[in-house]
Amino acid sequence: MNFEGKVVVITGSSRGIGKGTAVALARKGASVVLNGRNEERLAETEKIIKAIHGKVLSVCCDVSTSEGGRFLIEEAVRVFGRIDILINNVGVSMRGNFADLNPEVVRTIFASNILGTTNPSIPAMKYLRESKGSIVFISSAAGIRGLPSLSAYCASKMALRAFAESIRIEEAGSGIHTGLVLVGYTENEKDKETIASDGSRRFIAPRSGKGVKTIESVAEGIIRNISKRKFITILSAEGKLNAFFQALLPGFVEFVILKNLKKFEERNR
Ligand SMILES: NC(=O)c1ccc[n+]([C@@H]2O[C@H](COP(=O)([O-])OP(=O)(O)OC[C@H]3O[C@@H](n4cnc5c(N)ncnc54)[C@H](OP(=O)(O)O)[C@@H]3O)[C@@H](O)[C@H]2O)c1
Repeated sequence: MNFEGKVVVITGSSRGIGKGTAVALARKGASVVLNGRNEERLAETEKIIKAIHGKVLSVCCDVSTSEGGRFLIEEAVRVFGRIDILINNVGVSMRGNFADLNPEVVRTIFASNILGTTNPSIPAMKYLRESKGSIVFISSAAGIRGLPSLSAYCASKMALRAFAESIRIEEAGSGIHTGLVLVGYTENEKDKETIASDGSRRFIAPRSGKGVKTIESVAEGIIRNISKRKFITILSAEGKLNAFFQALLPGFVEFVILKNLKKFEERNR
């Protein structure tokens, strides 16, 4: 697929996977609309894109609000006149067993991961119909089944699948491509945050080693999903195995998880 002249909106693209995808798409010639809540971080990422080409717009807003979602889409259309691709990448994770959760944790995760997706997506649909473009949802290997200490996160990522399935059918005749990308365990930028069971923000330690995907490889996987107009793309071997066995032998998957609870706890620390 030729991305030259395409306009791509990526929510949560001031760092991490969203930023990596923005940089990769800019290198392929796409105009990029960046988004995030922190102006400084956005400005740093904008500088990186500007070193590639000048077709970049930063929209500082919180897409978990309906005003923020609408503002992002309106700004993209005001400046570039069209939208070809919307990548719903905003997502926050949490830690803690369900019984220990401050109920506000669930609200925060759903606001960010579900409303942060639907708020920009609904106003974007008419522009995506015009361009016969792509709407892409960034989910997770944790969106295949409920996992220990990640209940609200898993629920929010499973919800994205339901939206993607509904939209894919509703838009079957409109020419819109709907993509759902299930990302696996990926390296994180410094200061990446998660939400603890009491609702406080916690930094996640840097990840490295075997089984950790690079941001660049995840970005390429997302771009492949768009280029090939695929529905579901699973980006990790672990995720592929989980999806396969969860469909056929869910009891076996539960058994494996129960046997490896310690590993889950260590990984999610
Ligand atoms: N990293 C992994 O291992 C992994 C694995 C599976 C799935 N995923 C999924 O991949 C996506 C990206 O993850 P990541 O690790 O790259 O995250 P990240 O490093 O924490 O980056 C999140 C980005 O979203 C922005 N953001 C957060 N909430 C926002 C909001 N309400 N409105 C606007 N911008 C917002 C952040 O900037 P500000 O804070 O400045 O707003 C930042 O640019 C998420 O959906 C995540 O669930 C990640």
